[in-house]
Amino acid sequence: MLSYQHAYHAGNRADVHKHALLAKLLVALTQKDRGITYIETHAGRGLYDLASPESHKTGEAKDGIINLIKTPFLPEDHPYMQTLGAVRKKYGASSYPGSPAIAQHLLRPQDTLHLFELHPQEHVHLKQTITGQNIHIHHADGYAGTLAKVPTTLTRGLVLIDPSYEIKSEYESVVEFMVKLHAAWPQAVIALWYPMLKARLHEAMTQKLLACDWLSYHDENIFADPESVRGLYGSGMIVIQPPYQFAKN
Ligand SMILES: C[S@@+](CC[C@H](N)C(=O)[O-])C[C@H]1O[C@@H](n2cnc3c(N)ncnc32)[C@H](O)[C@@H]1O
Repeated sequence: MLSYQHAYHAGNRADVHKHALLAKLLVALTQKDRGITYIETHAGRGLYDLASPESHKTGEAKDGIINLIKTPFLPEDHPYMQTLGAVRKKYGASSYPGSPAIAQHLLRPQDTLHLFELHPQEHVHLKQTITGQNIHIHHADGYAGTLAKVPTTLTRGLVLIDPSYEIKSEYESVVEFMVKLHAAWPQAVIALWYPMLKARLHEAMTQKLLACDWLSYHDENIFADPESVRGLYGSGMIVIQPPYQFAKN
């Protein structure tokens, strides 16, 4: 099932939460000269236009990044704000970087990127937009594709898992995937984003992940009263083996 399209949701509060944490993680992981491997299991199209009909239809970005940047919600020197500024300078004021564009901006020539996207049209957009010698775009299942790539020759790295959770069983299967991934590539930092919905399907998943015997960082961003909204009331991120620089603040 591939009916989810991120263009309707890009720049909403949950997306900004994920992207700001991702930018901080990438900066923490690139403090040393040695290259890293960055893998995304669910990449999307890479770059979004908040003036698009999809974005206007839901209005989610208006409540998200469009209003957030009117307030000092993050310091100007935060890597997310710097990336947003650089992307907007290059692609225009209504552009919005997805996770691949953030990684492309913050990573260096010695780093390698593998971006998986299964949706045919999203994959085409991604391939046209996010280019570079060290960037590999795969039209394949991100779970199987990632397991086939690890461990990598660049031993340090980050895997971002950002599913659309269209199928309820994904809340369970993603835990199994993370356990396998950690066993195959024990040095990897693994970041999982999840939505917080009224049905609270994320709760069993987070409990299982936090009960595992690995170092983890957990952040939840609740932006609405669960009783007053129909859909999303917050978002969360669990990071397995967070880099010291990231976890300390
Ligand atoms: C939440 S969006 C990704 C957003 C992106 N990470 C960002 O922050 O800019 C999820 C994407 O995963 C894709 N997708 C769904 N199942 C997939 C799978 N098994 N493997 C790879 N991509 C998949 C969807 O087509 C969709 O574009």
